[in-house]
Amino acid sequence: MSEMLDEIRQQPEVLERTLAREMPRVEKFKRTLARRRPRLIVLAARGTSDNAALFGRYLLEITTGIPVSLAAPSIATLYDARVDYRETLVVALSQSGESTDTNRVLERAREQGALTLGITNESSSTLAGLADQLFLVRAGKEKSVAATKTYTGQMLMLYLLAHALGAAVRVADLQRIPETVEAALGLEAEIRELSARYRFMRYAAVVGRGLNYANAFEMALKLMETCYVVAERFSSADFMHGPIALVEPGFPVFAFAPPDVTWASIGDTLDRLHSLRAEIVAITDAGNREVGARATKAIRLPRRIKGWLTPIPYIIPAQLFAACLADEKGLDPDRPRTLKKVTLTM
Ligand code: F6R
Repeated sequence: MSEMLDEIRQQPEVLERTLAREMPRVEKFKRTLARRRPRLIVLAARGTSDNAALFGRYLLEITTGIPVSLAAPSIATLYDARVDYRETLVVALSQSGESTDTNRVLERAREQGALTLGITNESSSTLAGLADQLFLVRAGKEKSVAATKTYTGQMLMLYLLAHALGAAVRVADLQRIPETVEAALGLEAEIRELSARYRFMRYAAVVGRGLNYANAFEMALKLMETCYVVAERFSSADFMHGPIALVEPGFPVFAFAPPDVTWASIGDTLDRLHSLRAEIVAITDAGNREVGARATKAIRLPRRIKGWLTPIPYIIPAQLFAACLADEKGLDPDRPRTLKKVTLTM
């Protein structure tokens, strides 16, 4: 079994442990934020951590009303620009805490007046030493190059950040996430069987919307790095503005299709794709009865999940699919060609 698959399966306990152990820090930061409420939030990260940040952008804007921006690291690392970060919370997300450019953004922002938060899996990392406040993802060592458990751990931390900013994010609701993840893990056998059909897939599109838009990025990244599939990712709205012209019969499209406010857009896109005879795999749950006719295959989480709580459990089938497809193709997802666990860029 790959380390990736093993780490995917660890997620319920990682999430439970992180919630249980990090609450005191979160409550302490809540008091700091009550005195120093930011007018802007900037999130800095790379790769999978940046996909978690993209989720955070939607979550934090929706639940706190504070504008959120994703940092463009070169503004700090290559242009060395001075930016006014007063009244800004800058959050760096990094599994390793050693991504050079992510750390540089945080360091510069702190010098330029920001309150800073680091979200990492490594308590003695460079990032842990740089940030004013630390939220620790309690994932245990992530050995596979393909990040999985730290992605969902970072997403959980972003819910906790929303809570610390006074949003109506109830910890009791977050405590139910691990069981929804456990239920999603129960789909492994079905997903393994499905993945065999995609053994020769060379390219694909992944679509999502709103809180699941980041999951489209993350699924595409997993397909690229572990299965060497050229995977493009789109919001279902953007997909209609040009890329849909790519689609011919049999074109593979993966879609995140929760039964929430995003369904109107996702459903329309799936209708259009269905009429073009695309090969559609939809990730959904028991609450969405309308997916069936539109998708070639629906991967259905067994229980209905509230829209704002879908992003963590919904990425599980996507992670499982990438791990199983890599296996099917005879590839090692833990050591993809050309990659190391920590990538140093500026
Ligand atoms: C993808 C992956 C990379 C990392 C990226 C950032 O599976 O592992 O994309 O997410 O290199 O690394 P950290 O989070 O350590 O800053």
